[in-house]
Parts: sequence; structure tokens; C-alpha cells
Amino acid sequence: MSTARLGVLALLASTALLSSCATDTTAPSAMAQGSAVNASATTPASVDNFMLVDANLEAHELYRLTGAPAVVIVTQANGDAAIRGAAPQLKALASSYGAKGVEFLLLNSSLKDSREAILAEAAKAGLELPILMDSNQLIGESLGVTRSAEAFVINPKTWTVAYRGPVVGVGAALDALAAGQPVPASTVALNGAAIAFPERGAGAKLTYVKDVAPILEAKCVACHQEGGIGPFAMSNYDMVKGFSPMIREVIRTDRMPPYNADPHVGKFSDDKNLSPAEIKTLVHWIEAGAPRGEGKDPLGSVKHVAAEWPLGKPDLILTIPSFKVPASGIVDYQRPAIANPATEGRWIRATTVKPGDRQSVHHILTGWMSEMPANGQSSETRWRGSVGGYAVGAESNVYAPNVGSYLPKGGAIGFQMHYTPYGKEAVDNSQIGVYFYDKPPELMMRNVVVIDPTITIAPNTARHKEVAYVEFPNDALLYSAFPHAHYRAYANDLWLQTPDGKKTLLLSMPRYDFNWQRAYTFEKPIKIPAGSRIIANYTYDNSKRNPSNPDPTIKVTWGEQSHEEMLFTSLSFRWLDETAAKQVDSDARFAKTRLMGMMDDNLDGKLQKAEAKGQMGTMIAGYFDRIDANKDGSLDKAELAAAQALLPGRRGRAAEASNASRQLTGGR
Ligand code: HEC
Repeated sequence: MSTARLGVLALLASTALLSSCATDTTAPSAMAQGSAVNASATTPASVDNFMLVDANLEAHELYRLTGAPAVVIVTQANGDAAIRGAAPQLKALASSYGAKGVEFLLLNSSLKDSREAILAEAAKAGLELPILMDSNQLIGESLGVTRSAEAFVINPKTWTVAYRGPVVGVGAALDALAAGQPVPASTVALNGAAIAFPERGAGAKLTYVKDVAPILEAKCVACHQEGGIGPFAMSNYDMVKGFSPMIREVIRTDRMPPYNADPHVGKFSDDKNLSPAEIKTLVHWIEAGAPRGEGKDPLGSVKHVAAEWPLGKPDLILTIPSFKVPASGIVDYQRPAIANPATEGRWIRATTVKPGDRQSVHHILTGWMSEMPANGQSSETRWRGSVGGYAVGAESNVYAPNVGSYLPKGGAIGFQMHYTPYGKEAVDNSQIGVYFYDKPPELMMRNVVVIDPTITIAPNTARHKEVAYVEFPNDALLYSAFPHAHYRAYANDLWLQTPDGKKTLLLSMPRYDFNWQRAYTFEKPIKIPAGSRIIANYTYDNSKRNPSNPDPTIKVTWGEQSHEEMLFTSLSFRWLDETAAKQVDSDARFAKTRLMGMMDDNLDGKLQKAEAKGQMGTMIAGYFDRIDANKDGSLDKAELAAAQALLPGRRGRAAEASNASRQLTGGR
């Protein structure tokens, strides 16, 4: 969301005009028409934005397709003969009209079809288009879907439905739309299988007091309260009702609550997502006109007062340099660093972040560094272990009993500060309380980063993919992952590949949001057998369709600046054979495969010349034939490891990245 809009919201929130203003200016048509449109199977006056992931876990947001001549959505249900029969026709349409920029998507709103079943059906039926999983049925409901194999031709200039009917009519509809002619209505009956929408119209029974306020209190109010970072406070019924069209929009596009792990993949102990039932309750209630219901307003008396130090008096307090947050505008990430005040090396048991100005501090990330960087600024690539982090509702981080991470004395502690202005100037003085074990814990947490300093993203490219991995030569347990990239990142995921070649998806973020960076903690730590890889895939959108893209016309390479990019997933893990008393050389364990993991794009365990790209890769390419000792045309692990010694003086950005990654691949 633009800061301008944020500023306006902040102003609105402080005026009594709020609820009437918000409804007047932002109510989309679905709101005005409420239950009439959505409770029945009629065509909506306009198609509101949504984001759904397809069966391959790629995200598709409707309104990002603005600029396309048309968007065609065709309903699909597994086993339906009509859509199977239409597969060749769809393929032909997608190839002829796709060449003109028309976008084609399938929509599966069936309650019966799992992701695996959809993938199997697509393969069997020859359906090659992305199949959106509308598991909560909200999109199918609001489009008025009743059957499989029904096509909707949507005009992105108005987001209205230009045609709905069988697939046979799509070509004529697209031609008419392109020619600016009236689109002929369909006269052919639909013959696809019926799709049941048991909860269509269910909103009529729901009320704010009974059903909605408890969800908002549990999942939203921590941020959306007076003095919170949310742009408006959910402080009473009128406020919530006034913002209800926007609430519907951020839920349909999965922007709120800000927890970006796809619920189809894995289980997380810090999961802040709404459950499917909660999602449906909120949206159905809004579509039914947001009725209040009888009784006291449950949000009227909610007060979230955080204790100063909920875990008690800290053993060490880190004071983050004071920062003046301007009243408006976008504040670049601040990266201050302080000398490490610890006078001896100790084991961290827990940390608590105490944000100074709660309304502007969006998030805080930290890492200790072996030395103070020459420019006195923090740099995430030099971080060797966390000293706490903050996102609203996650102030404290307490390690499992008997597990700790080591904070040595000396060096520096760096911070990544994300501030969001809220209409008036503020001064932030945040602090971090660190709690140590009295005697060393038995087990130690470590950190390693999947990193690729060779990324090279061509201009005007909507889906550029990069991959990197780290190889674990010994058994380990993975606790959490923290993906990090900049404005062009579109999606990322994380896989475990065991030595037998089997791959398991651990974390999927179909849409990466630069604004919301955090660690994702696995409900149960993941077992990493010796010889496994942890693989991170990133997709970047360097096209003009990416609303956060600072400049789609330039080639983008690795770098710390926001106009440069990163592929950086930090992992918290433990070696199974390590205790605090008997530590292993973690750096050395990763060293042999570190460079390979950064560059080996085809994951074959060898480096081909074509994979040696980016500044670091180019440097290696220059020495390639010399390094290729056995002259087989590719570099194996041993050849590449030996090559590290050959690389010229560690100067320049690429060398710094490689140097930084070397530091990062060890815990302490
Ligand atoms: C961790 C804090 C946090 C939580 C939890 C949270 N929000 Fe937000 N919300 C924000 C912030 C900050 C923004 C401003 C936009 C942004 O940063 O993405 C925002 C923006 C919004 C907007 C306005 C979007 C726009 O485009 O103007 C709506 C509506 C909203 N949130 C609804 C919700 C709902 C509903 C929930 C709970 C289901 C929720 N939020 C949970 C912090 C939060």
C-alpha cells in the first residue's frame, strides 16, 4: 500500500468522519450490493481483486493483470467430462490469444479436490493452464459459479464480466472485446458438473458481536489499535464496519494478517494466519452487510498493555540508536550498529524487544557481527547469529529448555529497523533485553544462510528464477527459516532434499512481501539427514506489473541496496552430534560445498561454465579451465573448494559477498 494512502488513513482515523468517509470513498460495488450479489449465483457487477495460489503454489493476483487485453477464468472440477473435453480448445485459445497478452486461468472451487488430486487431474486431462485453488470457495461464490467448464471473460479496464458461458463462446467474446464491439451473450447451456457451494449466503446468520469481534481481537487488534502500527484502530463496531470493504479486500488478497507462509504447506508454531473458518466468517459477514447483533461491543474495552519486560529484568540491555521518524514518506530500512556491550561470552536463553515508539516500529531484526563494519553500519550478510527480533505480537523469543545460542564478547551488534511514518514526527528509542543461562545449556543453536551472490535478473522479466542450497554433511535439526530479499522478490520456497534424491517442501511463500520480514518456525523441528541439501528457490518480478519495482528497465544483481537484490534464507538449526561442551567446527562443515551451493543452478552437484555468473561467478569463470583439474568441463566440489584459494584478493562487492557468506556459514 502506498504511503500516501497510509497517511490519508492515519488522518481519517483521527477524525470523527471516519466511518462515513471510509464507506463512501472505498466501498466497492460488491459491498453496496452485498448479499444480493454474493448470496446468489448471479454475475457480479464487477470482479473484486483476489489472490489465489495455483496447484503448483504460484500466486496469482487478479489486479496485477491490469494492462492485459482480457483475463479468462474457466471453472474446473476434477473428473468433470466437460472441462476435460474442453482441454484441447483451451490450449488452442491460450496459445493464439495468449500471444496477444490475454491471460488464462482455471479456477477450482470444489471442496473435494486436494492439491495433489488437482495436479494428477491436470496431468491426466492435459490441462496446462494454472489451476487456482479456491479452497475457501470465496472467489467462486462471488463470481456466481455453479458449474465446472464455465468461462468468464473479464475486461481489466473495468474489471467487469464481458462474457460468461461455455468455453466455445470465448474466442468470439475476445474478438468482440478487442474490436470494441458488444460481446454476444451466450445462448448455449452449460454442461459441466455442478459444484456445491454450501456456505453461499451463510453470512446472514453472522453478527459482529458474536462471530466477528472475537476473531478480530485474536488476529488483528494487536496491530490495529490506538497507538499500534496498523493504519486504523479496530476500536468499535462503527470503525470495523466502515473499514469492512477493505477488510474483505485484504483477506481476499491474503495481505492480512501479515503471515506469508502458504497454509497448504507445513505447520508453524508462530502461525498468525486466519483459519479457513475465520476467513469465511469475516468475508461472509461483510458480504451480508456487516450486521452488528445485540449486546455490548466486545472491542470497546480491549486494551493491550505490554509489560515493560515481561520476562523480568534482562541480564544485558542493548540500546538501539535513537531515530527520528518523519511524519510521512517512506523511510529506508535503517541499519545502525553498536559495539557489543557484553563483557564476556555467554549463552543466550531468551530475548525481548521493547519497541520505543510502537506506532512507527514495524519490525526489528538483529545479528551479532565479528567486528564493526568499516562504515559503522549493520549488514545482514555479516550477521552470525540473532540477538532477538520483533514483529508486533512476537516481542520475546525464548529458546527451548537447554538450547541456547552463544553471544561472544567484542565485535558489534547490528539492527535492521523498519519504520513506518504515521502522520506525525516521532522519536524511537527501542531496546532489547537479553537473558543468559547461568551455566551453559547442553545444546546449541546455530545459523547458516542459503545465499546466492551470483543472481542476475534481466530487465522487464516477470518471472525470473534463482536457486541456491546448503549441504549438511552431518545430521541436523532445522528449527526455523527467515527468507530475505528486496522489492523484486515475488515468491520463495524451501525444500529438503535427502541423499536419496527425495524432495520435501518445507515452506512456501507464494508472495514475498518486503514489508513483512520474519522467521517462520516449524511446529516440529525438521530432521536433516547427513548429506541432505536445504534448497531455496526465489522468483523475482522485474516487470512493470510489480507495484514495488523501483525500475523494471535495469538488470539487477546482488547487493545490499533496495534497488539491488538478494537471495538470502537464514536457517536456525542444531547439529545432532554437537553439545555446548563439545562443539564442532561448523564453518568447516559447510566450507567444502559453500560455493557450489551458491552457484549450482541445475542442482547436479557440479559447476558448469554457464552457471558461473554474477560478479563472483565471472571471476571463477576466468579461472575455470585452470581450476578444472580433471579437465571434464565442469567443476566438482573438490575442484571448486580448491579454487577458493586461487581467487584474487577479496576486494569488491562480489568478494565481499563471498567473504560474508563464509562468515555466515558458521554459528560462532
Ligand atoms: C502485525 C501487525 C498487523 C496485524 C496482526 C494485522 N494488521 Fe492489518 N495492517 C497492518 C499494517 C502495518 C498495515 C499497513 C499496510 C501494510 O503494512 O501492509 C495494515 C493494513 C490493513 C488494512 C488496510 C489495507 C489498505 O490497503 O489500506 C486492512 C483493511 C487491514 N490491515 C486489516 C487487517 C485485518 C482484518 C487483520 C486481522 C485479520 C489485520 N489487518 C491484522 C498491521 C497488521
